[in-house]
Amino acid sequence: VEGWAIVVAAGSGERFGRPKQFEALGGRRVLDMAVSAASASCAGVVVVVPPGCDSAPVAGADVIVAGGETRSASVRAGLAAVPASADIIVVHDAARPLARAELWAEVMGAVERGAEAAIPAVPVTDTLKRIVDGRVAETIDRGQLVAVQTPQAFRAELLRRAHAGGGDATDDAALVEALGAVVTVVTGDPDNLKITSPVDLVVAEALLAERGGR
Ligand code: CTP
Ligand code: MG
Repeated sequence: VEGWAIVVAAGSGERFGRPKQFEALGGRRVLDMAVSAASASCAGVVVVVPPGCDSAPVAGADVIVAGGETRSASVRAGLAAVPASADIIVVHDAARPLARAELWAEVMGAVERGAEAAIPAVPVTDTLKRIVDGRVAETIDRGQLVAVQTPQAFRAELLRRAHAGGGDATDDAALVEALGAVVTVVTGDPDNLKITSPVDLVVAEALLAERGGR
């Protein structure tokens, strides 16, 4: 079974204040950490970077392509560079540098064993409310809710079909769900945080130090 990874790193980091994927973390770049996990787990890695950055080398990348306006468009740019020989395609956010090899193995293993798609999820810890016009309309029972992470693994043909229509969503599983496919959920890792704001980088640095820099 041939697995390929697409690491999306073409965002502008508006909430962070700059493109966070190029920030230093444990003496490497956030992007490089994400790519090294991908290349340890997959036969090949496509890295999607901001337009204009695609001529700079990235260690562990087999192909580097320029991304698009949205995350989904960037995934599609990556998909176009994944060879037809890939059976499984794993999409991962460069903004999640702490995803462990075990998590990659879990989602890929689920698809190898027959799942159409597999994604990591963790329980939601905050209380969730729906707000309308600045007022609480509803408190949502979080018992059925999870927060979803990457890496997300898919049968290659399914992911290509999900993106063929050009849709836009904050993760790839949503596009696959829209086709009616069954998405398997595996236990995510609370440490696999997404760098969104500057404070997340501080937390990531602490988590990395705690695990001995790896
Ligand atoms: N991404 C991408 N292409 C885009 C937008 C996002 O490749 N046009 C990537 C980001 O680089 C990141 C991942 O998708 O690795 C998740 O996106 P997010 O955390 O939202 O990053 P940004 O879009 O860069 O941040 P922001 O939304 O705050 O601008
Ligand atoms: Mg974004």
